[in-house]
Amino acid sequence: MDMAAALGEEGRDRRMEVEISGVTLRPSNDLITAANLEYPRKGPVDGCAFQVYGWVVCKAPVARLEFVHEQSVVARCELTLSRPDVDKVYGSSSPVGFWKAIGTVGLAPVFTLEVRVVFEDGRRDVIAEIRGTQQVSPSLTPSIRVQEPAYQGSGRGRLVQRYLNLLEASLTGMLVEDAPCDFWSDGKFDPNNRLLGRDWPSLSFSMIGSVRMRNLRYACETVILDGVKGDFVETGVWRGGACILMRGILEAYGDGARRVFVADSFAGLPPPDPEKFPADAGDQHHTHSQLKVSRADVEDNFRRFGLLDERVVFLEGWFKDTLPAAPIDRLAVLRLDGDMYESTIEALDALYHKVPYGGFVIVDDYQIPACAKAVHDFRERYAITSPILPIDGWGTYWRIDHAPIR
Ligand SMILES: C[S@@+](CC[C@H](N)C(=O)[O-])C[C@H]1O[C@@H](n2cnc3c(N)ncnc32)[C@H](O)[C@@H]1O
Repeated sequence: MDMAAALGEEGRDRRMEVEISGVTLRPSNDLITAANLEYPRKGPVDGCAFQVYGWVVCKAPVARLEFVHEQSVVARCELTLSRPDVDKVYGSSSPVGFWKAIGTVGLAPVFTLEVRVVFEDGRRDVIAEIRGTQQVSPSLTPSIRVQEPAYQGSGRGRLVQRYLNLLEASLTGMLVEDAPCDFWSDGKFDPNNRLLGRDWPSLSFSMIGSVRMRNLRYACETVILDGVKGDFVETGVWRGGACILMRGILEAYGDGARRVFVADSFAGLPPPDPEKFPADAGDQHHTHSQLKVSRADVEDNFRRFGLLDERVVFLEGWFKDTLPAAPIDRLAVLRLDGDMYESTIEALDALYHKVPYGGFVIVDDYQIPACAKAVHDFRERYAITSPILPIDGWGTYWRIDHAPIR
């Protein structure tokens, strides 16, 4: 992640703060048996989107749901998630669940969004109304932000969140204000740089910063809470910090089934192969010795947190050799952090089809043009239209809202 040519200031301090102020469920009519909006909640860290998650049981065949703002349809989704709990109560045999990320760009500062069912015969029926506000927030306040739990709770839940807050802060070096060791910072700890992953910590375990850490936590917690099956993987782990967080989340939630795959050469990035991947021509990442971290060191880092066990699976070698044959059936969270076109496209080619509906794909280096090109080439090839959501001006992510690509 060469930050020497780092981002300009634009977009860095401007971000939308979205609040959902209320939800009204409209009473069901003849065509709707029951409906529920479980939690419209604001975007995990970026504030540029919020999520709508719920279910509806209908008496006539449904084509899709529409989200309508000031008479315009701003998003659509199908009923695809199965909800055995709802099926049991209402005896429905068709899909009833839905999930959608709604981008807030274009919504009014004070907005009302209608959620409506579109039946196959063209009839439409509003099932709920979501009210919210959004405003530009001047800047982030790191110390407050990083301590905010992603999910509020009490009792054990509260301890889980406090453990994960502490884990995040120690993995990024925010906790001890670990000085940067990269070649563009001035060697002094700057909480804003660390928050946004714009430097390389000297001793700490991840360079992705607090906001991308929190986004990863959000993705992992969400798939656990939503029951989306599958393991977690990061392709490009450096000192292993993001993978340590994933393993810590499984520990915190008592999830004994999922595994964390740790994929890296453990010898840095490959030299570019411009004949095969023209977008990588001139790439210098392979020259940075700081990006070479041995497998033994990464294992040791897991051990420091008491999180190394048989459910941490190392895939050692170049992605082109390890990923296609990786012993992975299903991935609930696929985190890409290989910086280059080659490293990004190889991971997508080998693993994307293993992420089920409701799973997450996180692209750490979307701000690097070669990486973004790999993402767009891949999405175009498979006509993937799931909205790409910003995280912190560097990384992006999307949630799978389509059928498997192959
Ligand atoms: C920017 S670092 C990853 C940062 C890490 N995710 C963190 O939490 O700090 C990129 C990593 O990707 C690995 N990498 C990049 N391309 C690779 C490839 N084609 N095969 C194997 N490893 C690769 C490098 O060895 C390096 O450890």
